[in-house]
Amino acid sequence: MSVNISTGVGTLCFATPFFNASGPLCTTLLELEDLGRSEACAILSKSCTVEPREGNPLPRYADFEGGSINSMGLPNLGYRVYMEMYPYLWRYDKPIISSVSGLSLKDTLLIVREMCGVDELDAIEINLSCPNVVGKPQVAYDFDQTREVLQEVGRICTKPWGVKLPPYFDFVHFEEMAKILNESGVSFVTCINSLGNGLVIDAERECVVIKPKGGFGGVGGRMIKPIGLSNVRKFRELLRSDISIIGVGGIVSGRDVFEYILAGADAVQIGTQLQQEGVSVFARLGRELREVMERKGYSSLGEFKGKLKML
Ligand SMILES: Cc1cc2nc3c(=O)[nH]c(=O)nc-3n(C[C@H](O)[C@H](O)[C@H](O)COP(=O)(O)O)c2cc1C
Repeated sequence: MSVNISTGVGTLCFATPFFNASGPLCTTLLELEDLGRSEACAILSKSCTVEPREGNPLPRYADFEGGSINSMGLPNLGYRVYMEMYPYLWRYDKPIISSVSGLSLKDTLLIVREMCGVDELDAIEINLSCPNVVGKPQVAYDFDQTREVLQEVGRICTKPWGVKLPPYFDFVHFEEMAKILNESGVSFVTCINSLGNGLVIDAERECVVIKPKGGFGGVGGRMIKPIGLSNVRKFRELLRSDISIIGVGGIVSGRDVFEYILAGADAVQIGTQLQQEGVSVFARLGRELREVMERKGYSSLGEFKGKLKML
């Protein structure tokens, strides 16, 4: 049986449903070119700020049983450098998406306005959920601020755009955020960013495993999958049907991708597993997802997308 795993997000067409999450292995041109050559369906660049940033002191990333913890502090080359890179990435013939993470609304608007002038760029993901910049609360936990950012971006952005959200844990918060998103011009929503401010402890050394913020950091990887799935599911129930959902959080296998699509995701992103395994992860996920679909007799993603059964 031939299995088709192509999908779409808004007006963008994807050959497979998976690509990189912003952060791991997407900061330099070499890394972005590696993504271009891989079986990732799109290239998403590291969240950028107006000025280049070195980020937080090392060590700022650590693996642990069940996932990863990081407090990178948005190390990136500055938006101007990414704008220059996108034309080089065009040759890989897949959508190019820029993650934008201005440190203020003014910065975000400046970057979005300039990025809209780059023909080779296909879409913009506004990161409203970085838990690791010292002294900066996450925008998406402040609903009034989020509404303002979405209104202002919607006014100037001429490319398809979406937002990257933090995890929510309360139905009232899902409903409030969904209302704001439904009134905005987003064409996609990406959820979830890392679970903010976890703490991993090395019992042998009796010490924290990363240096910044007293060891507190964003948690990703296998252990956050139930939260990623719940956020995708809840937003699929609450958002307008023309807003696509990109699921991210704890995806390690093709079966995980299958679960996210069942919950209602149109596509998924891979963070920690990409950091640990490298870009060959995408070919493996493709094989595994096809295997699951063949076993279940599905020939396209649409046959099971969002069709999670209740008991
Ligand atoms: C090292 C590292 C750096 C990250 N940097 C960013 C970033 O710049 N922008 C962003 O939106 N998310 C960032 N994230 C969060 C990931 O994109 C993703 O949402 C999160 O890790 C959950 O996915 P995972 O379980 O597959 O890791 C980062 C994650 C890691 C591990």
